[in-house]
Amino acid sequence: MKQRGLRLAPVLLQLSMMLSLLLLVSLSVATAAPTAPACTRATLQDATTSYLTALAAGKTTFTSLSSTSPVAYQENDVSLDITKGVLSQGGIKIDFNRSIYDTTQCASYTEVVSSTGKHPYVIGTRLLLNTTDLKVIMIESNICDDGDWLFNAKGSLTYNQRENWDPIPEAKRNTREVIKAAGDAYINAWGDSTIKPPFSSQCSRLEGGSYISGGNCNLNFPPPFNVTNRRYTIDEELGAVDIFHNFPFLDKSLPRDPGTQTNNLIRVEDGKIRFIHENTVCAAKNCGR
Ligand SMILES: *[C@@H]1O[C@H](CO)[C@@H](O)[C@H](O)[C@H]1NC(C)=O
Ligand SMILES: *[C@@H]1O[C@H](CO)[C@@H](O)[C@H](O)[C@H]1NC(C)=O
Ligand SMILES: *[C@@H]1O[C@H](CO)[C@@H](O)[C@H](O)[C@H]1NC(C)=O
Repeated sequence: MKQRGLRLAPVLLQLSMMLSLLLLVSLSVATAAPTAPACTRATLQDATTSYLTALAAGKTTFTSLSSTSPVAYQENDVSLDITKGVLSQGGIKIDFNRSIYDTTQCASYTEVVSSTGKHPYVIGTRLLLNTTDLKVIMIESNICDDGDWLFNAKGSLTYNQRENWDPIPEAKRNTREVIKAAGDAYINAWGDSTIKPPFSSQCSRLEGGSYISGGNCNLNFPPPFNVTNRRYTIDEELGAVDIFHNFPFLDKSLPRDPGTQTNNLIRVEDGKIRFIHENTVCAAKNCGR
């Protein structure tokens, strides 16, 4: 018993030191300059809604767009003036949209299907916000239309509407790392058949407007197959990752590397790849194939 009392003293001393440290930390937090507002799902939902409203109305500016910082605007990996891009086409009829939200990076990804308007499109857009003022400072889109890889907006609409992308129940959510690793494994396996991505037995892929289902989502291309320039948007709540990246080899009319532009939106359930949506731009009709 004596010994126990002796050991308690240093523990108590440590505890009181920790407490005063905690007090100091909380004091300095309280007196620090006002912190930036948090980037929440609501922030990102506002940004995507405001972008979609502008796209539907044919407006080249919108409320979430930064008016004080330069905005980087790209379509199919080419920088251009936002007033010359898809927002300036007089308004696009939006038949379907789906968004994922990455509050860690303060970025979103939105897929848009326009099937019944005068010019059918499937558009994938990543918005990146400034974490200080929560305004959009970067927009990158893959704009697919007639002649792009397996393009068929009607198919994109039909199959998209059938899928269930409800929020994953909180207890079953995967971490960012698991979701990202599944997406990377899918792409890395294209040129390396020793990599076995974690496909669900029900895995389905919407590639342009065509659909394969039943778990057979594996793709292989002749190596070497070096997929570069990956830009991620990750949403743990929806189990989703979108990756914009270069696609070597596919487009016969282009040099093999870096190839053409694509993005893959992937839904992971229980660590397994359930849905894949691929949006690939072609320089030649159907990438010359
Ligand atoms: C983000 O916003 C702040 C406040 O408006 C501004 O000072 C800063 O330059 C912006 N950063 C970028 C990368 O645009
Ligand atoms: C986007 O989709 C949501 C629901 O899925 C819908 O309520 C909203 O009106 C759509 N936005 C546009 C601009 O069509
Ligand atoms: C892949 O391409 C990147 C960028 O061009 C390059 O840095 C890297 O060395 C390449 N890797 C392989 C395995 O070819």
